Amino acid sequence: MKIPLAKPVFDNEMKDAALDALQNERFVLGESVFKFEEEFARYCGVKYAVSTSSGTNALQLSLLALGVRGDDHIITTPFSFIATANAALHVDALPVFSDVDLNTYNIDPGAIKKKIDKNTRVIIPVHLYGFPADMNQILEYSQEKGLFVVEDACQAHGAEYYGQKVGSIGDVGCFSFYPSKNMTVCGDGGMVVTNNEEIAEKVAKLRDCGRVSHYEHDLIGFTARLNTVNAAIGRVQLRRLDEWNRKRREHAELYNRLLSGIEGVILPPRECSGIKPVYHLYVIRTKFRDQLKDWLEKNGIQCGIHYPIPIHLQPVYRRLFGYRRGDFPNSELLSDTVLSLPMFPDLTREEIEYICEKVNEFFIKKDRTV
Ligand SMILES: Cc1ncc(COP(=O)(O)O)c(C=O)c1O
Repeated sequence: MKIPLAKPVFDNEMKDAALDALQNERFVLGESVFKFEEEFARYCGVKYAVSTSSGTNALQLSLLALGVRGDDHIITTPFSFIATANAALHVDALPVFSDVDLNTYNIDPGAIKKKIDKNTRVIIPVHLYGFPADMNQILEYSQEKGLFVVEDACQAHGAEYYGQKVGSIGDVGCFSFYPSKNMTVCGDGGMVVTNNEEIAEKVAKLRDCGRVSHYEHDLIGFTARLNTVNAAIGRVQLRRLDEWNRKRREHAELYNRLLSGIEGVILPPRECSGIKPVYHLYVIRTKFRDQLKDWLEKNGIQCGIHYPIPIHLQPVYRRLFGYRRGDFPNSELLSDTVLSLPMFPDLTREEIEYICEKVNEFFIKKDRTV
């Protein structure tokens, strides 16, 4: 058997939508872009959605629209994709890391409080692997201190937190449509969602060269638009998202059931009431991670590590800020032990059974326990 880690969907309906947009619309800022934005806003339960050329741009332009400047501090997690923290640096602000909670792998709200100082302007929680961060606590601190909250929902399209879609809870939510995500535009793409008209208008200008009209610019903007053809594909993908997420959740349930008895394996953060994750990734933990990964790959099962190096220990962050091992122990522990197993909507029951059988075999044969 050969089982990939992820499998983006690109079917005939998407091909037709792409071709139709290419033949009948403007290549840039065509009708599909605005329709996709409207539909995505409705899906998230917010008033405005503005598309961008990537999730990274979505974060960066959101921070600019909130008026973040040099000297401002942005509190975020060191256990994420590097783009989360880079967004702060892209606007000349300082990313201030706060370690994660080992029960959720998301930023630990209890630890955030100690990081807030007079320069703090924004908190960026990440809903890692599609598991919602503890937004109530984060909102409580942010409201108390007058901070903005920008949700990095790049891995969490459709996840819910007490009935609200993630991305719609803070001041701004940012999404990525990179091909491995729960929904994609079959290329790079991103979206900013918000209920704040002023932020939405500013992001819309910033992504389009700071334009107010074709030849008039009142901001120093960027070329960071979503292409029309990608938006047309995104519209079809969005209609499938709930069904795909339902399947991901079903797969996670089966994985949990089949792996639950294995000593030495820690299962992903558990769903609890009010928290509805969407399993962008299905991630287990074991101290034999590298050996297990080799074994599974020898058996045709592609695995991933998200992420083997926490952001603070990336060479560029060490060089710029002097971070060392030991600075954020929980994130480092996760980086050393996490393993992503195949997860995509069309994964079959037989494939999951085979993967779990191989995980089981690894621990039984090698007699490895915690
Ligand atoms: C948590 C997180 N933040 C930000 C990004 C950046 O998104 P993009 O790759 O679309 O720029 C990603 C995408 O991989 C991500 O997973």
